[in-house]
Amino acid sequence: MHIAVFSTKPYDRSFLEAANARAGEPHAFRFLAPHLDAGTAVLAKGAEAVCAFVNDTADAAALEALAGQGVKLLALRSAGFNNVDLAAAKRLGIRVGRVPAYSPESVAEHTVAMILSLNRNIHRAHARVREGNFTLDGLLGFDLRGRTVAVIGTGRIGAAFARLMRCFGCRVLAHDPNPDPELRGMGVAYGSVEALLPEADIISLHCPLTPGTHHLINDAAVARMKRGAMLVNTSRGAIVDTRAVIRGLKSGAIGHLGLDVYEEEGDLFFEDLSGQVLHDDVFARLLTFPNVLITAHQAFFTEEALTAIAEVTLDNISHFAATGTPRHEVSVEKLA
Ligand code: NAI
Repeated sequence: MHIAVFSTKPYDRSFLEAANARAGEPHAFRFLAPHLDAGTAVLAKGAEAVCAFVNDTADAAALEALAGQGVKLLALRSAGFNNVDLAAAKRLGIRVGRVPAYSPESVAEHTVAMILSLNRNIHRAHARVREGNFTLDGLLGFDLRGRTVAVIGTGRIGAAFARLMRCFGCRVLAHDPNPDPELRGMGVAYGSVEALLPEADIISLHCPLTPGTHHLINDAAVARMKRGAMLVNTSRGAIVDTRAVIRGLKSGAIGHLGLDVYEEEGDLFFEDLSGQVLHDDVFARLLTFPNVLITAHQAFFTEEALTAIAEVTLDNISHFAATGTPRHEVSVEKLA
């Protein structure tokens, strides 16, 4: 098949080409740097499939433009699909495939890296030592052993993260509409978000972004947290109301904040904007806090995960070519 790949970075190209070569070069790629949206959809002209990532916009207008050019498949190289209008895709006859599981450990381990960095102030210590400042004031951390960690969403990534935190000797609490019996067997106790928040020293978000989880962490949630708790979001930006957590950081209600995702990341992340003025004042405010650590949506960025993403994406495309359905399909029916 002929596939137009949007938001291509050099690593996307090399992992997709390597996977295609291993499969005997069954597909032809057109690698495109721009994000997908209604305006750029025309770049897919002549392609039967489009491959998109997390900050591409597959809304009704973009999908209509793609369908008008004969695109029949949207192959997401991500697990999340909150950026796709699935109802419009169904109406327009575009099938949607995703990569449901690619190394959940990649995201779970990055989450642990953020927790350890924030707790032990590794980001600040590194800057200090490079400046010749070898003092310890302000770098005091806490032992993880015996602390309480709340995991919101115990799917593949949340479960992998919960297991890691159990290895640190943490008490792990969780919230998920579908509790994981294996985690329960390991002593993870499930409860409502309201019940978990006051108990937790660390809160980690691993649920998908849906209308029900949009701004799950808002002013009311911050008010329920244990004073000085650490909040980490490696899931999707809009699960957190950024302005509410800034208020929480200013009041001391939130003691540490780790973000790998941000509600308005589409305008920032994955690009080198170092020579430009930052126009997002909310993001700029976040950067002023010493107890905030931000990475630019890199939790998935391991060799294992990129290999799996490329292979599963190709498999979705090949399965669609053979059967008319991507192997890992997302559709309005399947979500219903
Ligand atoms: P998954 O589908 O295996 O698990 C999601 C879990 O969330 C399920 O158990 C589901 O029951 C639960 N859930 C749904 N609604 C909930 C709610 N209201 N409250 C609590 N739990 C709820 O997904 P997976 O693979 O674990 O990924 C989780 C999320 O991580 C993805 O939706 C994606 O947004 C994000 N992600 C971030 C990456 C990064 O690089 N930062 C990379 C990959 C995924």
